[in-house]
Amino acid sequence: MSTVQMLNAQFGIDGHLSFNEDASGLIIAMIENSSAKAALCLQGGHLMTWQPVDQSVPVVWLSRDAKVAAGKSIRGGAPVCWPWFGAHASESSFPGHGFARTVPWRLLETGVEPGGATRLRLRLENSEKTLAQWPHACQLDLNIYVGETLRMELVTENTGSEAFVIGEALHTYFQIGDIGAVRVSGLEGCEYWDKVGGSNLRRQTGSIAFAEETDRVYINTAAECVIEDERLKRRIHVSKSGSQSTVVWTPWVEKAEKMGDMGQPDGWREMVCVESANALENLVTVAPGTCHSLVVEYRAVNIA
Ligand code: BG6
Repeated sequence: MSTVQMLNAQFGIDGHLSFNEDASGLIIAMIENSSAKAALCLQGGHLMTWQPVDQSVPVVWLSRDAKVAAGKSIRGGAPVCWPWFGAHASESSFPGHGFARTVPWRLLETGVEPGGATRLRLRLENSEKTLAQWPHACQLDLNIYVGETLRMELVTENTGSEAFVIGEALHTYFQIGDIGAVRVSGLEGCEYWDKVGGSNLRRQTGSIAFAEETDRVYINTAAECVIEDERLKRRIHVSKSGSQSTVVWTPWVEKAEKMGDMGQPDGWREMVCVESANALENLVTVAPGTCHSLVVEYRAVNIA
């Protein structure tokens, strides 16, 4: 039996979940139930897209030029950044945003929730490579619930006898009508590190509108954010717990061109990242024998 056949036999659910092999050989879980459809790459535990049935376009964006390849992160979806966010504090050869998004994860369990959402539980596979970069006794699980809302729980368990410190994010790309016509609210009054043109601490006044590259780490905030989208006539609600940082990012023209996988000619205009994170001064210490959970829930509401 091939891996796909085994996964379908063990974890497939009629009317909810099946598995395919991508041209690259990576396995994709295809989820489709009466509330939504979604896809998830087992490498990286990477939710690639999510579209509730009452939405004409996805809520979680996947670049049309996204490449699915072994050891590479996929452009779009909800990359899992862990156990550090951004550059590693001391080792420049270690991957940006950590290794979790580019290594294999194992499916532990699938099922259907009482309300009809499809549930998947995955665990990062530790290897010599991950342990070389992160020599701690720990287990990282991701629970995903695909329904009319999308819920993701990233659970870090310290299985050893010494505390460790993590940075992390669910680095979600949201699909929007046009970056020039959306506003993100919920962060009014918050302090943020502005990563464009140096690193300066500023304070947000009003909601956020976009007219240039924006790369900000809002700190000490657990607030719900709302992406107000005039063009697609919807609001996306991003709520979270166990997260004290929110990263808001759009690359704009030049950076998007350099990245090369944002979707030609201007796919970058159709996305904005609102990332639920623990970064910079909000790193998390996980004590021995304890768990830390970063939980997000997304919901799209149509507006007249
Ligand atoms: C954001 C960072 O979280 O991720 C940006 O704040 C970065 O600085 C962006 O450019 C994309 O990162 P990557 O590694 O997925 O290209």
